[in-house]
Amino acid sequence: MDTEETPASPGSEHRTHTHSGGHRFPAERRHLLKDEERQRWLPPEPILRAAGIAPGAVAVDIGAGTGFWTLPLSQLVGPAGMVYAVDVEPIMLEELGTLVREKQLSNVQVVSSTEQEIPLSNAIAEVAIAGFVVHEPADPAAFVHEIVRLLRPGGRLLVVDWHKKPSEKGPPLEHRLAQREVETALSDAGLTVERLDAPNAEVYVLLGHRAVDDATAYTSGNALP
Ligand SMILES: C[S@@+](CC[C@H](N)C(=O)[O-])C[C@H]1O[C@@H](n2cnc3c(N)ncnc32)[C@H](O)[C@@H]1O
Repeated sequence: MDTEETPASPGSEHRTHTHSGGHRFPAERRHLLKDEERQRWLPPEPILRAAGIAPGAVAVDIGAGTGFWTLPLSQLVGPAGMVYAVDVEPIMLEELGTLVREKQLSNVQVVSSTEQEIPLSNAIAEVAIAGFVVHEPADPAAFVHEIVRLLRPGGRLLVVDWHKKPSEKGPPLEHRLAQREVETALSDAGLTVERLDAPNAEVYVLLGHRAVDDATAYTSGNALP
């Protein structure tokens, strides 16, 4: 699976650099996200089940891309649930919108976002999924805060991302976030961190839990709680 081609040199043209200093997955390479081999290397459904996604849940897929997590999420939450599929890239949003219409997924809403502010209400979701996206914005800690704002008390944030170690595929090492860095960002945002089993040696899977009695009034725009 060649989800994100390893570049020949750091800062390669294979990554899109954002104005704010982040690193964006290039939308023109989105076919890699849909590679069938990727489904074997990273089967999404068992990971989502391990995160406790149940029928009727409201889920937010952050950095939904071409819908790798959105489709199984739609199945798992069922007709009584809802999936908000959020992205910043017009091409991804357009492709997702087409997919949702073609598959007549009445429980998926595609949401056009900005890099650091997600246009969804506070405490809207039981679960948020951030698949291979937390390492992309310029300020990952602020981004995590913004995602946590969307969680209800008792809600969970599932993060799947590349280990910061050399691998045949994946983004350049200097664009990755070590598991420890993401764990710190989750706990700084008020979550209790659980490590879930990873399906392969190249990725980590973290589940952050917002406490049931967490009464923090999170605000948008990345103001710290
Ligand atoms: C590497 S792709 C992963 C897509 C999908 N999660 C998957 O695993 O197949 C990262 C996606 O996150 C999106 N993205 C990057 N920064 C974002 C942000 N700040 N908010 C929402 N989406 C973002 C990109 O446009 C891209 O579609």
